[in-house]
Amino acid sequence: MLRNDQLDAWDRDCFFHPSTHLAQHTRGEAPNRIVTGGQGVYIEDRDGTRLLDAFAGLYCVNVGYGRSEIANAIAEQAKEMAYYHAYVGHGTEASITLAKMILDRAPAGMSKVYFGLGGSDANETNVKLVWYYNNILGRPEKKKIISRWRGYHGSGLMTGSLTGLELFHKKFDLPLAQVIHTEAPYYFRRSDPAQSEAEFTAHCTAELEALIEREGADTIAAFIGEPVLGTGGIVPPPGGYWDAIQALLKKHDILLIADEVVTGFGRLGSMFGSDHYGIRPDIITIAKGLTSAYAPLSGSIVGGRVWKVLEQGTDENGPIGHGWTYSAHPIGAAAGIANLNLIDSLGLVGNAGETGTYLNAAMADALGSHSHVGEVRGEGMLCAVEFVADREARRFFDPAEKVGPRVASALLSRGVIARAMPQGDILGFAPPLCLSRAEADNIVAKTSEAVREVLG
Ligand SMILES: Cc1ncc(COP(=O)(O)O)c(C=O)c1O
Repeated sequence: MLRNDQLDAWDRDCFFHPSTHLAQHTRGEAPNRIVTGGQGVYIEDRDGTRLLDAFAGLYCVNVGYGRSEIANAIAEQAKEMAYYHAYVGHGTEASITLAKMILDRAPAGMSKVYFGLGGSDANETNVKLVWYYNNILGRPEKKKIISRWRGYHGSGLMTGSLTGLELFHKKFDLPLAQVIHTEAPYYFRRSDPAQSEAEFTAHCTAELEALIEREGADTIAAFIGEPVLGTGGIVPPPGGYWDAIQALLKKHDILLIADEVVTGFGRLGSMFGSDHYGIRPDIITIAKGLTSAYAPLSGSIVGGRVWKVLEQGTDENGPIGHGWTYSAHPIGAAAGIANLNLIDSLGLVGNAGETGTYLNAAMADALGSHSHVGEVRGEGMLCAVEFVADREARRFFDPAEKVGPRVASALLSRGVIARAMPQGDILGFAPPLCLSRAEADNIVAKTSEAVREVLG
């Protein structure tokens, strides 16, 4: 077995880490962690440290760590048939069965599942499908995609453009010209503090309508949004938001892509966020919770209205020119089947609703009145604590003070992983859906201590 110091050296010398301060890492100035195992909501590293992972990796290990049911399904599939492609009508029992299981659980009106590998490539697929759709319908000008500031949809060229966070654009020459952004549905950060929630929803809708009119509805193909803003700050939508937005999209014949990479398969306490908020999307993006990240797999669930046009397109133009070597990879599909079966048999959607609500209430009780906590918010097994310099004036901290990262680090030293969200001083929680009340109590107690250590 390699020594820790040897692995550390190779890590610095050889490994290009994503979303990492590269220079600090190479110089050995930034913390690193070599993870070795996990069970339930806990992970363990090579130094023997055991940590409660209150962010489920990157909100993806929904069934928790160490599930032998999924590991065995992967091993069986690898032994039987590790790989075959899905081009020109090929498939495996696993990929076909998983498509059926997804549609059985999906919101009404969904027709087919296209499989990719991760959330970014699934959204890339979605944009291509929407462009193809409008080309087949003879509307080649109807191509722009509207996303929201603070939305997160991936970090490719197109999907990084859809993402509405500065870090993902700066120095990458993004966003691309076909992508336009509208107001984030983030009530706590509204520019007019006097606005009620209903007035803020009306304001977001009016902003979207003004954008559509400015650009011309005949140039706009689709609107993409997460049911609950995730990486942009873990922000549930203001009341009435999705109804109002959908009415507007319908009026202007703009397709709706619901990005359920985080919310799909139970995180909000409903199987899909679309069902949770009465969203009726044309396309749904899924990834993360589809396999609980035991193997990479994503999907685009295509609604009937789009599917019909795709079929027409291939009658007119031949086979669809889209696909990857690893589309519908059998090992990912086998992991997906075992994962969805576990979610059902363990009642994890119900637990996400019940224990998630408990976690949110306990967090609000513990920190809601702290003078540097502006808001505790969440939905299901998503929770966020947002810090402010001045609560009355709703004045935010200078980002240079790194309040969010400092609280996350104080919490980590107490054995709990939360995520300092990338834009704003926001501590995010998205634990595995199997979290117990005792584990929720532990998260809240340690968070409370960490906040008091950093902010008094
Ligand atoms: C809502 C949403 N969409 C898309 C993605 C991109 O997924 P991936 O990182 O698997 O490419 C993410 C990742 O966090 C996400 O949260």
